[in-house]
Amino acid sequence: MKQQSFVLFSLLIIFIHCTITLAQSPAAAPAQGPVAASPPPPLITQTPAATPAQPASVPAPTNVTKILEKAGHFTVLIRLLKSTQEENHLLTVLNNSNNGLTIFAPTDGAFSTLKSGTLNSLTDEEKSELVKFHVVPTFLSTSQFQTVSNPVGTEAGSGGRVALNFTTYPNSVNINTGLTNTSISGTVYTDNQLAIYRVDKVLLPMDIFTPKPPSPAPGPAPEKKPKKETPVAETPVVSTTVNTSGAVSSAHYHVMLLGVGIVAAIFSL
Ligand SMILES: *[C@@H]1O[C@H](CO)[C@@H](O)[C@H](O)[C@H]1NC(C)=O
Ligand SMILES: *[C@@H]1O[C@H](CO)[C@@H](O)[C@H](O)[C@H]1NC(C)=O
Ligand SMILES: *[C@@H]1O[C@H](CO)[C@@H](O)[C@H](O)[C@H]1NC(C)=O
Ligand SMILES: *[C@@H]1O[C@H](CO)[C@@H](O)[C@H](O)[C@H]1NC(C)=O
Ligand SMILES: *[C@@H]1O[C@H](CO)[C@@H](O)[C@H](O)[C@H]1NC(C)=O
Repeated sequence: MKQQSFVLFSLLIIFIHCTITLAQSPAAAPAQGPVAASPPPPLITQTPAATPAQPASVPAPTNVTKILEKAGHFTVLIRLLKSTQEENHLLTVLNNSNNGLTIFAPTDGAFSTLKSGTLNSLTDEEKSELVKFHVVPTFLSTSQFQTVSNPVGTEAGSGGRVALNFTTYPNSVNINTGLTNTSISGTVYTDNQLAIYRVDKVLLPMDIFTPKPPSPAPGPAPEKKPKKETPVAETPVVSTTVNTSGAVSSAHYHVMLLGVGIVAAIFSL
């Protein structure tokens, strides 16, 4: 009787351990992390010849609005500078930047040649972009236009749709936006930090005045790509880190218990 019950007990232990092992074995497959997003493409930044900043005393930042008011015939531009807050931005930049600024200032005459309603049809954001498109975030003297590399980025950004191309001739500097082709018609102001050039046309950026391209997609593209990427995803490189050591050791443990149980059962017979 005692022997029989011991055998039964041993078998019960074996059974319980098998059950536990089975219950544990379908260990959760670790969730695969999402496909890593590719980092955004690096911005190409212009690094023009640095103009040595005056080290000595820091004067009050140059007041662009004041200069334009004094020169006259820039009332529309001044109004835009104020309404878009660009006026304050320019002050800050001139106070803090060693690179300086170059501003292309369209005259009131230039604005009057725009198709009527052009300015009013723009959103606040577009007005701001239009103004920033007239500002190059570095100081460019007239001679430096010869050496800039096109396209030259503006405060509205870099890249063909918000950049300017310059071509120099013996007596003029041509500006081309892709929509506007004009020349610098005079120098309103210049020191070694700020240059303001008069232009007789409003510089129209393609970014605002031509249809947007289908999808610039700077990040990981949607829908169409997965098919192409599938083979890559299937390559063994994908790091499905299964921690097997735990599973292995638990398997050993159960095999050991099973052996003990069998041995005990044999001895008890
Ligand atoms: C710049 O000049 C304009 C016009 O003279 C004036 O209204 C404005 O307050 C000035 N801004 C600063 C920061 O001095
Ligand atoms: C210019 O910058 C200096 C220090 O960076 C700051 O103390 C000063 O207030 C600024 N002036 C203006 C008009 O922003
Ligand atoms: C500007 O110059 C670049 C480089 O020469 C050229 O690829 C681009 O087409 C030009 N853009 C315009 C609007 O002329
Ligand atoms: C821009 O205008 C100038 C003269 O006004 C002309 O020589 C040049 O070919 C024009 N450039 C373009 C890209 O149309
Ligand atoms: C696997 O798990 C064991 C115990 O659960 C732990 O000691 C070990 O560091 C883990 N190894 C890895 C690679 O995660």
